[in-house]
Amino acid sequence: MAEPYVIKMPQLSDTMTEGTIVSWERMIGDAVSRGDIVATVETDKAVMDVEVFRDGYLSGPIAPVDAVVPVGHPIGYLVESKTDVDASKAAPVAQPAAAVAPPAAAAQPPAAVTPAAARAVPAPHPQVSRASPLARRLAAQLGTDIDRINGSGPGGVVTAADVQRAPAPFEVAVPGNGRAMKSMEKAIARAMAASISMPTFRVTVHIHLEALMAAARSAGVSVTVAIARACGLAIARHPKMNWCYQPDDKLIERSQVDIGMAVAADDGGLVVPILRGCESRELAALNTDWKDLVARARTRHLNLEEFTGATFQISNMGMFDVSSFDAIATPGLAAILAIASNTDKGSAFTITADHRVINGADVALFLQTLKELVQQPGDWMEPGGPAIPEGDWDYDVVVIGGGPGGEDCARDLVAHRLKVALVNDAPLPGGECLWRGCIPSKAWRAAADRLRDRAGDARLGVGGTDRAQLVWEDLEAHRRQVLETRGAMALKTDRGVRIDYLQGFGQFVDAHTLSINTSANSDDPHARAASPSAKAAQHITFGSAVIATGAPPFIPPIPGAQDGLDTGGVLTSDTVWTLSAAPSRLAVIGGGAIGVEMAQIFQDFGTQVTLLEAQPRILAEVEPEIAAALTDILVAEPRLDVLTGAAVNSIAGTPGAMQVACTDGAGSQHTLTVDYVIMATGKRPVLDGLDLAAAGVASERSVITVDRRCRTSVPHIFAVGDVIGGLMLAHTAAQQGRVSAATILGENRQYDQDRDCGVIFSRPQAAFVGLSAGQAQAKGMDVAEVKVPMNIDAKAMINGETHGMIKIVADKATHRIVGVHFLADHADTLIGEAVMMVSGNMTLEQVGEAIHPHPTQTELFGDMARRLLSRLRRSTKKAKA
Ligand code: NAI
Repeated sequence: MAEPYVIKMPQLSDTMTEGTIVSWERMIGDAVSRGDIVATVETDKAVMDVEVFRDGYLSGPIAPVDAVVPVGHPIGYLVESKTDVDASKAAPVAQPAAAVAPPAAAAQPPAAVTPAAARAVPAPHPQVSRASPLARRLAAQLGTDIDRINGSGPGGVVTAADVQRAPAPFEVAVPGNGRAMKSMEKAIARAMAASISMPTFRVTVHIHLEALMAAARSAGVSVTVAIARACGLAIARHPKMNWCYQPDDKLIERSQVDIGMAVAADDGGLVVPILRGCESRELAALNTDWKDLVARARTRHLNLEEFTGATFQISNMGMFDVSSFDAIATPGLAAILAIASNTDKGSAFTITADHRVINGADVALFLQTLKELVQQPGDWMEPGGPAIPEGDWDYDVVVIGGGPGGEDCARDLVAHRLKVALVNDAPLPGGECLWRGCIPSKAWRAAADRLRDRAGDARLGVGGTDRAQLVWEDLEAHRRQVLETRGAMALKTDRGVRIDYLQGFGQFVDAHTLSINTSANSDDPHARAASPSAKAAQHITFGSAVIATGAPPFIPPIPGAQDGLDTGGVLTSDTVWTLSAAPSRLAVIGGGAIGVEMAQIFQDFGTQVTLLEAQPRILAEVEPEIAAALTDILVAEPRLDVLTGAAVNSIAGTPGAMQVACTDGAGSQHTLTVDYVIMATGKRPVLDGLDLAAAGVASERSVITVDRRCRTSVPHIFAVGDVIGGLMLAHTAAQQGRVSAATILGENRQYDQDRDCGVIFSRPQAAFVGLSAGQAQAKGMDVAEVKVPMNIDAKAMINGETHGMIKIVADKATHRIVGVHFLADHADTLIGEAVMMVSGNMTLEQVGEAIHPHPTQTELFGDMARRLLSRLRRSTKKAKA
């Protein structure tokens, strides 16, 4: 008899060292041909076929099913003739040393069988798929439900490796005499062990908790519940955080946010009751439920459904002074949130997430939203009543800063009979808007308009007006008269309505005391009239405070800029009013509203102006097409050059002879020789003098952080206007002042930037209310836009004011108008109707049906609304067809 051919355990993967016989595909004595599959074996990765590479008859002894055989060891034999077949089988698996000796050869090394699995009684056959015998034994040994496992073997066979990967508690031999776990402990233990099967990752952000803690206190709810509600709201915007993986490659998309939160039980363990409906239910109702759940969780008196089926989980160890930790996500959850204790950097919020459901970017965006919600609780928490704490204060409210923000706030408060002090470091109220901003610049603009209009009179058939001349002294006398009249009127009104106007510089001493420094007060009679009791009012106490201190011009670190400010060769929107004549050459640095307005006013006054803007476009706040069209108009002006993408390298010289070295967008170097430089490079609040730290008020990058009710991190202290950043506009500050007053009074009101508006007083004027199409789309809205050029309008043609366009942006589904954008003469007046459209939630139908008078430019609104409506209707019909 020829030597039998040995069928060896093949090495089927790089890491395979042994294999388990899963099945014999041929019977002993069968004729087999080269390439036939005789058996299947389970490797560390999958169930695979064993192929033979010659013809013959399968002969025993063969390794029995379930035997574990090292790679290279015999599992069976091939003989040349049927008569040589050895029909003997090897020993059963239960005997670990399954000898697979050749028919007539020396004993072979024993095949090792996994002892524990071998001893176990196999689990029943799965109902939905097939499983290898070893997989069934292993499942039985580990107590794993084999029906819940996805098979990775051929045809979906569940392998031992699948069982090992599957969520099942592993049992290890531990000496001692353990007590039986209670059902809740068992459930937790199993879930924790099963978590090993989840491919998780972690993401951490730091979030300041002070504002939420204070808001929760004033609303009378637990901080934990407030965090759960914030998570519910954040999950509503990032719903994947609430999904979960189901073990047969399915995702369960859940919309109700049921948050499990760990509570320490009286016996020392942890219980995780579930607060249901956190995405939709009111904070107060959630708080009531939570109180009840916590009380029963402590004594472990929860029903099964009260601690099973969470869709998200929070573990708050902040109270244990834990600086960082992460939590274990368990099957059924996509994510769990671990909250560490509050530090200077905030508290570490760490999400452990299941990568099968969510990715890192999803989690990062969720945490960003959560951060906003937690740090700005006023945006979503109802005010818990008036914001003035009980106490014997000198004033119910002190308002610091007498610009439009502070004044409107103070007037609303006294109208409700509160005792209010308005502290302002100038003899008269009005702030930047009145003294250095809106009002004086528009006085200059009014003169510039007259000069410009005269140049166009001839086209309308009026001759002899083209020699108009600017008389600087008269211009300035008019400007000053407007300012002073309005300043005096404002003070008279403030005092008339019983606001206590205190001149001086306010500084916090603590969260309820303000010191007022009067040393800089002048001998101006207005000052004495305004604040007769200034000396007596060095310190005042207050219930609430509103900070409305504005923002001075920001000077970028350009070499020579500071020296220029000192000599007066560099001017800002604060100091440009000191000019004694229109300069003949001017450089304006910064193409924002101030830069554009000043550049064009001076070009109308006859000055040769160069406007330098660092960004590729001017007027970043304005709708892009409007800004681009205005740029085209500006560059065509006779005495105005606009350089975008320009870098200003240095400034030198003395007033009347200044040099500005710059590099234009194309990289060419220039040195401009000008009389003066106007620095219009934005504004930035200066907070140092306020000593916010004494009151505990938080700020970030020079801006006081507030929520939509203008509430700072200290619940009874508010901030409005330029000092909080955003749109630095007078009417924005005034609205925020009214919002803060309402909140102090306990009303539910918020500032909504999406309905705010602005006018750039250029010619033609650029103006906006609400959102541009791009801004709306960035917020996920599906919008359509209609645009008309001004040159089709009868009134514009009559007046010879045909530059520009108007655009309406509307929501496609509801037809609600969300934005209107202008480049048009008289946009400052036209925008009034557009403001009502956006703030009043008006639809295209309402505007289209309104009867507009003829011939006026307002007719365009009706035309545009009807045009967009019919376009939307046509496209809806098309879509239906
Ligand atoms: P801004 O922030 O609107 O514009 C400043 C411009 O200067 C930006 O375009 C910026 O890119 C540019 N810039 C900054 N550094 C520069 C540099 N080194 N070289 C060249 N360009 C540089 O600030 P602006 O115009 O000073 O106005 C301040 C605030 O006052 C703004 O919020 C503005 O909206 C508001 N304002 C509004 C008016 C209106 O609505 N009619 C009128 C005047 C001011």
